[in-house]
Parts: sequence; C-alpha cells; structure tokens
Amino acid sequence: MPLAIHTVTVIGAGTMGAAIAAHLANAGLTVYLLDLAPTDLTAQEQAAGLTLADRAVRNRIAQDGYTRMRKARPANLFTPAVADRIRVGNLEDDLATALAASDWVIEAIVEQLAPKQALLARLVPLLPPHAIVSTNTSGLPIHQIAAAQPADFQRRFLGTHFFNPPRYLPLIELIPTAATAPTVTATVQAFLEDVLGKGVVVCHDTPNFIANRMVSFILADLIAFAATEGYTVEEVDALTGPLLGRPRSATFRLNDIVGVDVWLQIAHNLHALIPHDDRRDTLLTPAYVEVMQTLVQHDFLGNKRGQGFYRTVADDQGAKQFWGLDLTAARHGAIAYLPPQQPTWPSVSATQRQPLAQRLPALTAADDRAGALLWHTLAHTLSYAAARIPEIADSLLDVDRALTWGYGWELGPFALWDALGVGPTVARMQREGIPVAAWVQHFLRDGNTHFYITNNGAPYIYDHARAAHLPIAQDPRVIEIAALRRRSAPLADNDAATLHDLGDGVLLLEFHTKLNILDLAVFPIVDAALEQLHGGATGLVIGNDGVHFSAGANLRAMLAAAETSDWQAIERLLLTGQRALQALRHAPRPVVAAPFQRALGGGAEMCLAAHRVVAHAETYIGLVETTVGLLPGWGGCKEMVRRHARPDLPDAGLTRVLQLLHQGQVSGSAADAQALGLLDTADQVTLHRGRLLHTARQAALTLMPNYTPPPATANVYAAGAAGLAALQPWIEQHTLPASHSRVIATHLAHVLCGGDGTASWQDEQHFLDLERAAFIALLQTPATRARIHAMLTTGQPLQN
Ligand code: NAI
Repeated sequence: MPLAIHTVTVIGAGTMGAAIAAHLANAGLTVYLLDLAPTDLTAQEQAAGLTLADRAVRNRIAQDGYTRMRKARPANLFTPAVADRIRVGNLEDDLATALAASDWVIEAIVEQLAPKQALLARLVPLLPPHAIVSTNTSGLPIHQIAAAQPADFQRRFLGTHFFNPPRYLPLIELIPTAATAPTVTATVQAFLEDVLGKGVVVCHDTPNFIANRMVSFILADLIAFAATEGYTVEEVDALTGPLLGRPRSATFRLNDIVGVDVWLQIAHNLHALIPHDDRRDTLLTPAYVEVMQTLVQHDFLGNKRGQGFYRTVADDQGAKQFWGLDLTAARHGAIAYLPPQQPTWPSVSATQRQPLAQRLPALTAADDRAGALLWHTLAHTLSYAAARIPEIADSLLDVDRALTWGYGWELGPFALWDALGVGPTVARMQREGIPVAAWVQHFLRDGNTHFYITNNGAPYIYDHARAAHLPIAQDPRVIEIAALRRRSAPLADNDAATLHDLGDGVLLLEFHTKLNILDLAVFPIVDAALEQLHGGATGLVIGNDGVHFSAGANLRAMLAAAETSDWQAIERLLLTGQRALQALRHAPRPVVAAPFQRALGGGAEMCLAAHRVVAHAETYIGLVETTVGLLPGWGGCKEMVRRHARPDLPDAGLTRVLQLLHQGQVSGSAADAQALGLLDTADQVTLHRGRLLHTARQAALTLMPNYTPPPATANVYAAGAAGLAALQPWIEQHTLPASHSRVIATHLAHVLCGGDGTASWQDEQHFLDLERAAFIALLQTPATRARIHAMLTTGQPLQN
C-alpha cells in the first residue's frame, strides 16, 4: 500500500526550497517552510525595538524567502490564495511540530556536505517512523549525506533533484542510494508523477546525476570552441536555440539565467568528483575558464546582476538592444560588448523551415561556419553521452528524457543521433578522432541502424547491456495521438481537424492547424463528431497534442473578409461556429474539453461550450476578443452571462464579467481560471500533461450513465436596461469618452445585459443573436480593423 503524502516540510527557504514549497501547495498539500533563525538583528529590526526573541525576527529568513517566492516571475503559485497552505517557521521553534505532522521532508539548504549532514542528524530523532526524507542537492553524493545515520533512516532517504523553476520544468531526477528501500523509491516516484505531474528519471548516485552532468560538459566544450574559433555570442545562440530544437535561451542566455558563477562553480566541483572520467578536463578547458573567470571577476554574473554574456543597451530611439560579450577580449581578461548583427548562414536559411530531424543532417554536413559549430557540438555531445553509459544511466531513454524534460530539448542525444544517422556520424567521428564508445561500435557491427525502432506499432529502444532493442514501457494513462493514428484510420479527417476513436465509445476531436487556429475547415469534423454522438457514441473529448490547445479564430481570414466588406462571409463564420458549439453543448452525450497552455478566444469558447472541462494545470484561458476590437461571437458572452448573471445580485453580477471580457484577461493557470469564473469549480484540473486526454476520456465515461443535456430555453438572465444602467459607471470610469475602448465596452455591455429591454429570463439564442450583431458592428469600424492589423503585424494589442 503506497504511503499517502499530505504534509511536507521543506527546509531551506532559498531559491529552490521556497519554489518547491509553492509547487507542493499548488498540488493541494500542506507545507511547512523552515529556515535558520537569525543570530543578528538587522538595522530595521533594531530601529523597531525588536529582539532576537521576537517571532517576526526568528522567522525572518524563511519569511523573506517566502516573500521573494511570491513576487518572483514567472509565478510560482497557481493563484495567490494557494500561499495560505504554506506555514513559515524557523528551525529552532518549529522543527519538532512540523516534522511530527509530515509525511515527507525535503532538505534544500546550501550545497555543502557538512551542513546537509548536520541537519539530517538533527532531523532523525524527531521524524515520525513513516516519514520519507529527501535532499535537493544538485550534485553532492547522496549516500554521503546520510552515511552517519542509522540504517532504518537510510532506507527512507533519497535524492529528489527538482529543476528550476519547479512549477514549470517537468524533470525530477530521483536518486535512491544502495540503502534506499525500493518501496520508498516507488512511493516517491508515484507521488511525483501522479500528484505533481512530473517526469521522473531514476538516476544513479553519480556526481551531478544525468542532466547537469551532460549540460556542464556540453556548455564548457561549446563555449571553449566558440571562443577559440572566433564565433560571437549572438552567433552561438542563433545556432544552438530553436534551430537545434532547444529553447530560445540557447547557450549564453541560459548561462546568464542560471548564473555565470554557478556554472563555473559546478564545473570545478564536478571536475574534482570524477577523476575516472577521461573527458573531465573539458570542464576546465582554458578558453572556457578564461571567459567565465573574466565575467566573475567583474561581477557580471548574468541576469541577477543585470549583465553577463549579454548587456542591454538602448539604441538612438531608446529601443532595447542585446549586445553580446566579445569572447576574444574576454579570454584576455577584458570586457567589451558587440552590437547585434543578426547573423545568417546559407545552410540555415536553406533548411530552417524543415522539421528538426530532417534539417540536422544537412546542417551538420554544411561547409560553412554554422555547419562547423553544429557538427562540433553535436558530435562531442553524442560521443560524451555514449561514453557515460552505463555510469550515469542504465537506459539511453533516461539520458534523452533528462535533457528533454530538464532542459527543454526537443530531441535528446540518442534521438538526435538517430536523426543524424548513427552509421555515417560514427564514421565521421572516427575520421576526425572523436572517441566512439565501444558499445556503439558493437551496435553498428551487429547491423543496427537506429537506437529507437518501432516493432508492430510498439516503440523499442536499444539496450547496450543486452545488445538488443527492448520495448519502452508504456503508461496506459498516456494517450498519444500519433499512436491512435497508427492503430486505426481516423473516423473523419481534413487539414484542420481529425476525429479519432479513443476507445470505449469515446471520440476525440483534434485540431491540428498552426497554433490550432480555428477556421471554417474545422466544422465539418465537428459535424462528423456530432453525427456520431447522435448515433450512439459514448462521449466526445476535444483535445490535441499541439503546443497550445487553440490560439482562437482565424484573424487573418476575418480581416480579409472585412476589408472587402464581405459581411456575408463573416456572418457565415459566426453562424457556423455558434451552431456547432450549441450543438456540442446540447449533444445527447457528454462533451469534455481538455485544454492546456493557450486556450484563447474561440478556443476558450470551445471549452465554455463543453459539458465539463478537464484542464491541464498550466492552462492560460481567456476571452481576448476585445484586444482586437471584437467580442466573443461563438457563445462566449452568452456562456459567461448564463454562468454568472443572477437577478438577486446588485448589478446582476455583470460588472466582473464586463471587466474580465473588456480587459481580455487571460488566466495564469487553470486554478486561476476557476477563480476568475472562466472555468467552473466542477471542472477538473490535472497536473499531468501527458495524461490529460486519458483523464478527459475517463470524465466522459463517468458522466455518461446519468447524462442529460442542459436546457436551452429561458435559462439566461437578461438584466436589460437596469443592468446597463448598473454597468455604466464602470464604463465611464475605465474608458475615455471618445475612445474605441468605450465603443467596445458599450457593445459588450449591451450583449451581456441581453439588450436594453425589461429584465427577464431569455433563451440562449437571444444572446447569440446579440453577439453576432455586435461583432459585425464592431468589425465594420476602422478602429477595430486597426486593432486586428496591429495584432497581426506586431503581435501586440493596439489601444485606441
Ligand atoms: P539558496 O542559497 O537560495 O538557499 C539556501 C537556503 O538554505 C537559504 O535560505 C539559507 O538560509 C538556508 N540554509 C543555509 N544553511 C542552512 C542550514 N545549515 N540549515 C538550514 N538552512 C540553511 O540555495 P538554492 O539555490 O535554493 O539551493 C538549495 C539546494 O538546492 C542546493 O543544494 C542546490 O544545489 C540545490 N539546487 C539548486 C538549484 C537552483 O537552480 N538554484 C536547482 C536544483 C538544485
């Protein structure tokens, strides 16, 4: 029976401890956040007449960490209210109470062995017998931290290496020692996956584990190469970001985010801990250390000092420019920054629109400076990854997952190697004297070509120890759309959307346009779904595995129609959308929307039309139409009124709805969307992105037996003229008299109040008709078209 984890104590309220506490609170746990009790008073405390005995002073260090965590951006907390689940305290007064209540204790204090060991010695006598303890070290040997503690404790002790920021990065490296009980490892793994929705990689207890061991080497090697061969900081980041399937932070921006001093310290620490690693000197390559040392000596440590490999410079017009460090000067101890050049290379221009796996072979073969740098870094990355098997990981999959989940790589080293072609790459590496691990040579000699293969539709990965491909364990709760496609032909399909069979009679409506923008082409597939729902299907899930659930309706098409005064086309788009969404809402079987990331405009309206939403915790949902001078026209206004307007509320509850829609506010999380009223409290939130479709399918199955579609008549409260009068003060206070913003607010209020008649309960259709009329009236104004044009050209909203 796995241990239930409800209460956690986090010790160390610094960058990581406070952010880990926040994320545990996000998941609904009760958290104690403790830090040292200060030994000195600050000048402020002295001036306030406080002493070291005062609670405010004794909690100051933890309280400061908690306050910093609450202010940090991107936000650590799903909603501000979540912070109430965190109790701040100090190690002198609160340790015994906190530990007695805790199922799990996470140590996140300074990265030094002796303080971590001393802290464990203090904890052990106070722990409940069932409590698990983990350390959040970046790379200290886990077994050494607990070495002096009793065997019973060592069974319950392991490493949990969270990545920063813990709310957003999926990876957690889990590091059991030889003494950790397998049930403890399994319990923590299940908790991290099921409750926190994390991707867990179980690592060996080797220095810096997997992700940071690899990245320390890759950064040192690449920066040394760039500095020696005369590449600029800007060139390296242009080549090693999205072009390589990696985040925009690429190489030098990443260095600035984490801290130049931090990376240099890691390189020194790691070097000392891996005498057996014949590549360890790469970590301290002179060109790398010279550049890093120069920045450290000038205290230009990166973002925390406002300057590092990049410096922000204002141009003549005051616009921000990012100047990159002159690496050649830095090698000689001098600081100089180079103006941006926006580098281009023929090989990059020719291939950058191709999918990653396709462009990589061409890029690394290119006979230009882009090709030379990309080949160098990839060849050395692959060579090093292979050499570290089995030291740092049992499975190639663990290495790939550590880099994709921890550093946002699209493909990990072994998947990259497959894309480049293992045979040809190895041949070139050998020609150039780059070491190739013996097991890779065996792999090729045995006639293999790829580390990843599919066999009868099931994925396999090469296992170096067995010299064979073994099946990749599949989580039955993860539904991959690519696997659905492999298993059976879709029920309906076009360029914009597909209808799949999810099993047990539940269907999946998938959008797959760019950013999942919704245009008319989506609706024939919605119709196909509706036909099935009327023909006996059990339910429908609306979801996909794109980058965003949906960025909304197709603005470009809308602007084109408006500019040729094709109002019929606009009317058709509105009517088609309204009818489809109403038909979904009133379908005989449950419809469950499964949003994640952005669900904007029409994407949000799809969610509002569903009977139930199962949202990923990171869902940024908003009715943002007013930012482009419009208003929700596919039932979004109607749904917000239906959900929130009531005759017994002072302004019928409409001011909040008007504000939300007029400001086009987007939720900061699914929980925030519930607080804003964009999602219902009955809607479900899951932290596990990979299991979203499965959870949505289960919701449809659970709803099905007692399902009756909602009514559509006399069920939406129209506050009428009295409502309009109640909204007028808000409009006058928040918009300027002659502005377009005022025009939009006025139209919006008219729709939200169901017109200017007598207050009454109205049919849904009444509101839909008002939405269409107001939408077209707004689109006919040049000011709305200017807003749409600005959004399409600059990506920024225009205020007019
Ligand atoms: P930090 O320096 O921001 O915070 C450390 C906290 O521990 C401070 O609030 C300090 O007052 C407290 N502390 C120091 N000595 C203590 C002691 N003897 N007893 C109790 N509290 C003590 O450090 P950060 O960055 O939060 O790192 C904490 C741990 O997490 C380290 O082991 C670090 O290597 C690891 N880590 C850090 C990551 C990062 O990005 N910062 C990422 C992953 C792991």
